[in-house]
Amino acid sequence: MTRHDTTPWWQTGVLYQIYPRSFNDANGDGVGDLDGVLEKLDYLSDTLGIDALWLSPFYPSPMADFGYDVADYTNVDPLFGDLAIFDRLVAEAHARGLKVVTDYVPNHSSDRHPWFLESRSSLDNPRRDWYVWRDPRPGGGPPNNWISIFGGPAWTQDETTGRYYLHSFLKEQPDLNWRNPAVREAMFDALRFWLRRGVDGFRIDVAHFIMKDPQLRDNPRNTAAAVASHKPMGEYDTLIHVYDRGHEDIHQVFRDLRRLVDTYPEPRDRMTVGEIHLFDWAEWVRYYGDALDELHMPFNFSLLKADGNAAALRHLVDELEAALPPGAWPNYVLGNHDEPRLASRYGEAGSRLAAMLLLMLRGTPTLYYGDEIGIPQADIPPARQQDPWGRRMPGQGRDGCRTPMAWTDAPGAGFTTAPAPWLPLHNDYETRNVAHQLQDPASLLNLYRQLLALRKATPALQTGRYDPVEEVPDGCFGFIRRTATEAFLIVLNFSAAEQSITAPSPLRRLLLSTQPDRTEIPSGTTLTLQGYEGVIVAL
Ligand code: GLC
Repeated sequence: MTRHDTTPWWQTGVLYQIYPRSFNDANGDGVGDLDGVLEKLDYLSDTLGIDALWLSPFYPSPMADFGYDVADYTNVDPLFGDLAIFDRLVAEAHARGLKVVTDYVPNHSSDRHPWFLESRSSLDNPRRDWYVWRDPRPGGGPPNNWISIFGGPAWTQDETTGRYYLHSFLKEQPDLNWRNPAVREAMFDALRFWLRRGVDGFRIDVAHFIMKDPQLRDNPRNTAAAVASHKPMGEYDTLIHVYDRGHEDIHQVFRDLRRLVDTYPEPRDRMTVGEIHLFDWAEWVRYYGDALDELHMPFNFSLLKADGNAAALRHLVDELEAALPPGAWPNYVLGNHDEPRLASRYGEAGSRLAAMLLLMLRGTPTLYYGDEIGIPQADIPPARQQDPWGRRMPGQGRDGCRTPMAWTDAPGAGFTTAPAPWLPLHNDYETRNVAHQLQDPASLLNLYRQLLALRKATPALQTGRYDPVEEVPDGCFGFIRRTATEAFLIVLNFSAAEQSITAPSPLRRLLLSTQPDRTEIPSGTTLTLQGYEGVIVAL
């Protein structure tokens, strides 16, 4: 067997994120659902050619944070379907060779979860300690200075007992107390439930948040005005987040979680990927585990800091490659349901380079639904805004990247037959949709399809080494992916100027970002790229 055959799917494959509300609405209520995903499995496996789908939360939820406030960890919200439909989805995905990854939201439940209803009911309820409760500070007010990501104090005083409970996000999302062994067991049971139903892995929501300072000390003030994340977060940036997340004890939880996941034999190779917004590499790599015995991967969001800047992108890739412990597998994210749309950050031509970057780097790519047709960031009028973050903190809203997928030019874009989808369609959906782009050989969708097919057929592009190329002009990012037997040069011209490079050996051009329908065999070793053009050549 070659290495290609034995490498786990989550290293060779491409993960595709589905935001269920917005992917495909089978029952015509304006909101996407699991039946809708079922209808599109052929699109995912055959037309597009991805390997695994990650479903954002579909669990019963009051939808204060659109499903990231879970009221039952082991069921399906009727809005999205039921367990029988979920089982069918897993079976039919597996029949097509697709893996299914579900979202796991361990840091907080909904305030309507029966656990929290019990916990808040009295001081001596057996579930009292399942959440983080504290007395007011002497003289009154929240117990410490922690701030919610979504704005305001991270504590809310509960009328029943006069005490405060912790919520790192909305007050409708109380933080679970992972220091309580009963909580850990109950939350691990939720994993077992989905593992028994055959899921192939978990995307773990804000994984680095689950363990806090046991003494709940005040966070230090951030006087340097440095931001904690890849983007400014307003009030949240006024503190340095040393005590409200990422306590050392978190690593034992992930070792235990990994051991649990590894005990489930069939299907093989289950995977965990953590949403970990840390930009200090030394801290970030710790989530792989000292013996690679924690998460299979922490999501790597670093490229979100360098939209379309060749030098900065290369620097971040090199930094990651240098930071990875031996055996740890890299991954890249260019978009998701929390970030402004890729197409708007990179522009029309830049989006094509971004596709090449994401799919050609060494590491698992995560592709966000709709980015393959270049859905732009939508400007949602205030009256139609849904995201609680945007409603509380103007400018932070995430609705603009969650608009429905466009399948056709029909009035509901083939997404829905309802008169109005839950969020508006993007303005140019009549031309920017799957059906339309499939007919145009030079479309972005056809570029994605070709990149995915090339990657799937080429071991060097899946698991080969990454070697940056020094001799490229400013504004270009060049790298080689190679195994012992084959090598591919990728050059991405992120500048507006025409650029030429000399390749180390005669070229065979495989794919040009601007004209995926044309492959030419140029003579010699000189490669000329138009502005915002990328190329993949076999060496
Ligand atoms: C993660 C999710 C985000 C959610 C938050 C709280 O960051 O990606 O959508 O609002 O966690 O669960």
